[in-house]
Amino acid sequence: MDKIKIIGGNRLEGKIYISGAKNAALPLICASLLTDETITLTNMPALSDIRSMNALLEQMGTQIDSFDDFLDGHETKTYSYRTPKFTSLIAPYDYVRKMRASYYVLGPVLAREGHAELSLPGGCAIGARPMDIHLTSLEQMGAKIEIKNGYVHADINGKLKGAHITFHTASVGATCNILMAATLAEGETIIENAAKEPEIADLIDLLIAMGAQIEGKNTSKLVIQGVDKLHGARHKVIADRIEAGSYAIAAAITNGRIELVNAQASTLRTPLEILKAMGVSVEEGDNSLTIDATNRKLTGQDIMTDYYPGFPTDLQAQFMALMTVSEGASLVTENIWENRFMHVPELMRMGANINVHGHASAIVRGVKQLSGAPVMATDLRASFALILAGLVAEGETIVNRVYHLDRGYEKLDEKLKAVGANVERIKEAE
Ligand code: UD1
Repeated sequence: MDKIKIIGGNRLEGKIYISGAKNAALPLICASLLTDETITLTNMPALSDIRSMNALLEQMGTQIDSFDDFLDGHETKTYSYRTPKFTSLIAPYDYVRKMRASYYVLGPVLAREGHAELSLPGGCAIGARPMDIHLTSLEQMGAKIEIKNGYVHADINGKLKGAHITFHTASVGATCNILMAATLAEGETIIENAAKEPEIADLIDLLIAMGAQIEGKNTSKLVIQGVDKLHGARHKVIADRIEAGSYAIAAAITNGRIELVNAQASTLRTPLEILKAMGVSVEEGDNSLTIDATNRKLTGQDIMTDYYPGFPTDLQAQFMALMTVSEGASLVTENIWENRFMHVPELMRMGANINVHGHASAIVRGVKQLSGAPVMATDLRASFALILAGLVAEGETIVNRVYHLDRGYEKLDEKLKAVGANVERIKEAE
């Protein structure tokens, strides 16, 4: 398993190209299952989660082609997906276990074929991650759902039927799944308390390009008129707001200056406000964001994760790393996931001063200096928080379990090296 070695202390300066968003790409890939025609996705990131999703679709009968592309100043991937006929309607355990977002196949496959089986994802490092909203919504649309031998078996007699559904929680995954299913349902589906994350707007754009009828983009009420058939389309994936936010903190924590090319400030309003309040300069360009913390003394701020447009839970760990070296105290409250402070003990091993209260809050008191250490994290964003701590720590930090980072940060070591970080990937045989 690869490791990343960092010698801390370098100030980062330069440009980083922001990749296409992983969390947008995953449901977009699954939307291709709604049609027998070709869906082409450009600005796709080269990430292991994308490869895992592609492998799942291939075993269901999808033909996938990939091309290297050059878009908006950087190398990207273009993928085309075509599923003329399913060879399997099952998402097996071995795929779902690797990547929970595999549940995105459920809505599209059920809507198109009338039957789908999905291994239940189970728990993961950041919490229980239930699927009740996905399943009860499909039941409201006329599906018969049974849980047998760890699998969801979903069936419909004829077509899914439009329904008026109110989510008890604004779940991103359930919004995407039910939205996709509703495009091929009979009649009108209304989703109340839908999630409003930018990745959902991106999915709606693709679905509309495929012939779907959807109203309410960027609001919590989505109205979908089902159609008989969807057709092929070409779509460019939005920029990854979490990757952009993560590198913004890399600039801040090293008192550096980084231009984040292709970053969309409109998708990062709340975290950028916090950065400014901490003392960082944020300059918005047409298609970029410049984060400048040169000669700035940063001060702690409180953050509280929330549904979009609130503070994103997927940037909580990275901001906490920044707070460990900012002056004064910061209160971090995690409202989305019940177990998302797994990075705290590792940051403390590097000299951070953090007190966790219950499951949901932590007080971070800034220290003068972190010191390098061998560390490991249990999830993707927590792993990046340790990279950030390593960038500013004295001496050497080794971040283990790099496969977490490879799930969601394209060319992480190359991007950091290009702005002056002393970072090296240590390749190790499996
Ligand atoms: C997505 C993101 C993840 C991010 C999360 C919240 C992807 C692939 N992953 O995950 O990175 O951290 O949004 O922004 O896009 N819930 C239920 N019942 C359900 C579904 C969810 O109670 O059926 C609860 C969860 O326990 C959690 C909250 O809803 O407390 C949010 O979960 P959800 O938005 O569904 O997260 P994901 O889509 O899994």
